[in-house]
Amino acid sequence: MSDRKPIISGNWKMHNNHLEAIQLVQQLSYLITKDDAKAVDITIHPPFTDIRSVQTVVDADKIPVSLGAQHCHWEEKGAFTGEIAPAMLAKLNVSFVIAGHSERRQIFGETDEMVNNKVKAILANEMTPILACGETLEEREADEAVAKVSAQVAAGLAGVKAEQVAEMVIAYEPIWAIGTGKTASPEDAQEMCKSVRDKVRELYNDKTADAVRIQYGGSVKPGNAPELMSQPDIDGALVGGACLAADDFHRIIAFRDAG
Ligand code: PGA
Repeated sequence: MSDRKPIISGNWKMHNNHLEAIQLVQQLSYLITKDDAKAVDITIHPPFTDIRSVQTVVDADKIPVSLGAQHCHWEEKGAFTGEIAPAMLAKLNVSFVIAGHSERRQIFGETDEMVNNKVKAILANEMTPILACGETLEEREADEAVAKVSAQVAAGLAGVKAEQVAEMVIAYEPIWAIGTGKTASPEDAQEMCKSVRDKVRELYNDKTADAVRIQYGGSVKPGNAPELMSQPDIDGALVGGACLAADDFHRIIAFRDAG
């Protein structure tokens, strides 16, 4: 067992208006125990328009979750219609920001360079990036999964210092498993998360590789979370669909109680 603290993140994607968001967070607050929060870091990533409302509830009720965002721009300010600057998120007590989710890469054309700019901007604003990477089904079938993911990790971390990487989170999310109900087998997920850690070892050093937390994402559910989380190189989960139901998300958070 590593001494890395598990981190479970809920990526709400484009779900829930701010009133629905308040409800979901309140439901979570009844379920998450002090022991959960001691054992696991929990982050929630609502849409931008919900963040202020969620922040107010989290602060008022002292709910032991960290506030996250799903995306941000890398510039401080300027003529970037529709975009949000990292400092705007930091001001709302956001402490984790996902960078390079495959939906942003595939639907909105984010490149490795843009993702790297974001990672650096998130760090410059004293927030923690969750750098997402993952291969398509075609890449997996062509035996290119490790090469693709290693290249994404190297590009995403370009110019980032070892001490910063050690504090970061990297989410391995095979694209074919996201929102499809198909999950990588625990063995495949472990092998890929280990390859991510090996890449960090090659780029930096043992200390950094042993400290960075690596999540698995892609159809994580209460039923498969315990086995995925028991793998030596899987330190957490990035959860989409299942985080929209408070009970399911809590059962994933409490994965250690299962069985
Ligand atoms: P999913 O999404 O759990 O619905 O597969 C995961 C993600 O995209 O972060």
